[in-house]
Amino acid sequence: MKFYVRTYGCQMNVADSNEMGRHLMAKGLIQTQDADEATILLVNTCTVRQHAEDRAFSEIGRLKRWKTKQSGRKVVVTGCAAERTKEYLEDRFPFIDLVVGAKSIEDFGEMAHRLLDKRSTDEDFDYAVPSTDEKIASFVTVMRGCNYSCTYCIVPYVRGREIYHPMEQVLGEVRDRVEEGAREITLLGQTVNSYRYSEHRFADLLEAVAAVDGVERVRFISPHPYYMTDRVIETMAVVPQVCDSLHLPVQSGSNAMLKAMMRNYTREQYVSLAEKLRRAMPGMTLSTDIIVGFPGETEDDFEQTVSLIREAQFENAFIFKYSPRKDTPAATMSDQVPQKMKEERNQRLLQLMNDIGSQKYNQFIGRQVQILVEGPSKRNAARMSGRTRCNKIVVFEGSDRHRGQVMDVKVTRVGSFTLYGDPAILE
Ligand code: 5AD
Ligand code: SF4
Repeated sequence: MKFYVRTYGCQMNVADSNEMGRHLMAKGLIQTQDADEATILLVNTCTVRQHAEDRAFSEIGRLKRWKTKQSGRKVVVTGCAAERTKEYLEDRFPFIDLVVGAKSIEDFGEMAHRLLDKRSTDEDFDYAVPSTDEKIASFVTVMRGCNYSCTYCIVPYVRGREIYHPMEQVLGEVRDRVEEGAREITLLGQTVNSYRYSEHRFADLLEAVAAVDGVERVRFISPHPYYMTDRVIETMAVVPQVCDSLHLPVQSGSNAMLKAMMRNYTREQYVSLAEKLRRAMPGMTLSTDIIVGFPGETEDDFEQTVSLIREAQFENAFIFKYSPRKDTPAATMSDQVPQKMKEERNQRLLQLMNDIGSQKYNQFIGRQVQILVEGPSKRNAARMSGRTRCNKIVVFEGSDRHRGQVMDVKVTRVGSFTLYGDPAILE
């Protein structure tokens, strides 16, 4: 019996999908990339922005046909939107067999067991040895939930308060991933650096993960600026496996907006943190998340975000148009920004990031970079793709034998947030 997984949203969701996939594989199911072959179809939803939720729901709508095409098929809906709208989902799509909210992902194994036990008599289980996914760069969830209350954000509602996985459990998972072929580990959590377990803090976890045999690189997302302590920075700087790049969401460059968002830091504090990071790790790269069109955002507030992008020298930024989420404080703030203005500001920032990005990336032409080769390129499967320690994607004409290798590639040209390497120096 085969299963197919469709994931919406963030890396956290990708990791959850992998975790649920492992539960199904442990029960003898095999993962397929083709929904037509599958008996179980799992849609892992996201509700952080309305757009992500809409896309997942329209996919679920289409599954009614998929289900009736073959008897015994099951539809499972999981994740943040499932947590938020369980009753609605069950009402609107009565053909769904199982809804698992984001707070219950850890119980998925037990639920899947019951789902499979309810199966009809078409016993086409393969009971093959579970095929492990040999990912070179793998994600390990270290904490779930969020204790913050950023006023735009639905995560604390759908994922609940922070819980931390025991350090031994995390290290066990890291060893498992390495066993399956991983060389790079990204530690995941909504505010990953708030991690604590008995006397251990996030810096201890970084050190311990880096010390696992076979781990060449360690990254983590998403940290909160508040917990970027001196000790974490110091650990990043001295532990060689920890990469010199950081995705550190800032959300806005305006203190008025940061306050209204309840981010718990000022623009100045963020900038001095960025400086501290660069002093500790010269050459490190910083990327970020930005929200445009938060309620009350004036042209002046927006300009401050523009100037922050230059001041903090972000390498890359994910720009989001503010999306009101039901029951969050910002959704009912009076001065909502018109959609057209959000779109216009979004475009302006995208343009700015593209300009900065192409300047920064162009500097790499002719340089040699070291990459960890991950596998075929997503855009062109005939080529291989890897990443530098600073998290830049490098595409080159390699082959499967380069997978998992750390190698030097000479950059010959650049594309949109991608470096292209010269195949000539590979041999
Ligand atoms: N509207 C727009 N963007 C949002 N994010 C979170 N909630 C919202 C929202 N309601 C963005 C933040 C966060 C990223 C994961 O999603 O920038 O860092
Ligand atoms: Fe949402 Fe803020 Fe928690 Fe991040 S820190 S998940 S933005 S509430």
